[in-house]
Amino acid sequence: MDVKRDLRLGGRLAAMHAGGRLLALAGDPVLRLMYRPWADDPHRLHHRLREGPQPYASRSGVMVVATADACARVVRDRRFGVRTRAGGTPGGAVDGGRDPLLEPVDLSVLGLDPPEHTRLRRLVAPAFTPARIAAREDLAVRVAERLVDAAARQGRFDLVAAVAVPLPVAIIADILGVPDADADAFAHWGRAVGAGLGGVRSLRALHRLDRAVVELRALMADLLAHRRSPDGTVLDVLAAGDASRDEAVSLAVLLLLAGFETTSGLIGNGIAAMLGHGDPWRQLVDDPASVAAGVVEETLRYDPPVQFTARVPHVEVEVGTRTLAPDTTVLAMLGAAGRDPAVHADPDTFDPRRATAGEHLAFSGGVHYCLGAPLARLEARAAFAALATRIPRLRLLPGARRRRSLLLSEYERLPLATG
Ligand code: HEM
Repeated sequence: MDVKRDLRLGGRLAAMHAGGRLLALAGDPVLRLMYRPWADDPHRLHHRLREGPQPYASRSGVMVVATADACARVVRDRRFGVRTRAGGTPGGAVDGGRDPLLEPVDLSVLGLDPPEHTRLRRLVAPAFTPARIAAREDLAVRVAERLVDAAARQGRFDLVAAVAVPLPVAIIADILGVPDADADAFAHWGRAVGAGLGGVRSLRALHRLDRAVVELRALMADLLAHRRSPDGTVLDVLAAGDASRDEAVSLAVLLLLAGFETTSGLIGNGIAAMLGHGDPWRQLVDDPASVAAGVVEETLRYDPPVQFTARVPHVEVEVGTRTLAPDTTVLAMLGAAGRDPAVHADPDTFDPRRATAGEHLAFSGGVHYCLGAPLARLEARAAFAALATRIPRLRLLPGARRRRSLLLSEYERLPLATG
């Protein structure tokens, strides 16, 4: 254990959160998104942020855009990037390089600007085209039906543990080429890393996260070094491609994490929204084949698993009412954009038949547009259709628990009963 590093990071954490709480108490809506009791009702805070000038200048020093129009402009604008000009984390205390508190995990392409971003994304993009993903539809449907049938036999079950996590884990493991025998270990460490993705709040959490990152990277490095029977999976491509060993490990870890942490959220959020509203669930049960795709888009609009993304301008840029200096941190609130009344009528109502459901920013935009969007959609459709056809009388039980994270909106536990 590095005591000096711990003291330094512990001191920064304490100062960050004491200051953050004070600003939240003083009414700053951005900080209120991080702390209870305000964080329990993010939609009210999003509303406030959308109503005000774009961008909103938080007293924490970050700028925030929350309307659909302003968010879309920021994520698509090539003058913005994800690294400061010195190569650091947006808003971070470290000049060049990742800030361990704000960006505790090396997320490969997600944390790189072109040209490195372009080179690495190109290596794996061919495996995620809509056509390559559509070829996995049968597998996704089969796995979803098997998991749902096993859950139904229990009578009462936690959707997250029974379906929402194991379905995407099975499919991403197949695409990457992770052997079945290793999939559980990957899912375990992947979930531990996922818990820290939005930043950490204590030294203990940071240590837990560091340990999970080390384990996950070691497992991945080992798989990459010993490709047993190369058969054209993504890990084969990475092992043979022109990425360094470290780059290959980071990219494979990102694909694994992005491949299931977010999709599990989409499945849980969609089921909770439908069962909570009643009518959408009945629409899905009556006609799963045509309603499931609408449920996926409406969930991505109404309660997207990834709530925001950060950018910094590399040059001076005008955004709405302000001129932003290079390296100013800008948060684009993707979750708030999905409920912008300028785009969606009656935005707080969950309606799978809404014509504008697909007009969301849940997968962001620009060069970092989600590589796994077709896969996430396919898996969620398979899960919703399997649940509606096999357990039509599905209902919510008390005991749901949401993850406490500014970044990810998802359930940790969603207890359900079959009738
Ligand atoms: C509902 C599920 C998902 C959601 C909501 C989601 C959301 C996102 C968002 C918002 C970004 C961009 C962040 C930014 O602009 O900074 C992103 C990037 C990415 N996603 Fe997804 N994602 C999902 C599923 C997946 C899946 C299944 C994969 C599987 C491989 C995946 C792989 C990636 C990768 C590799 C990137 C980085 C792209 C780049 O930086 O060029 N995602 N995702």
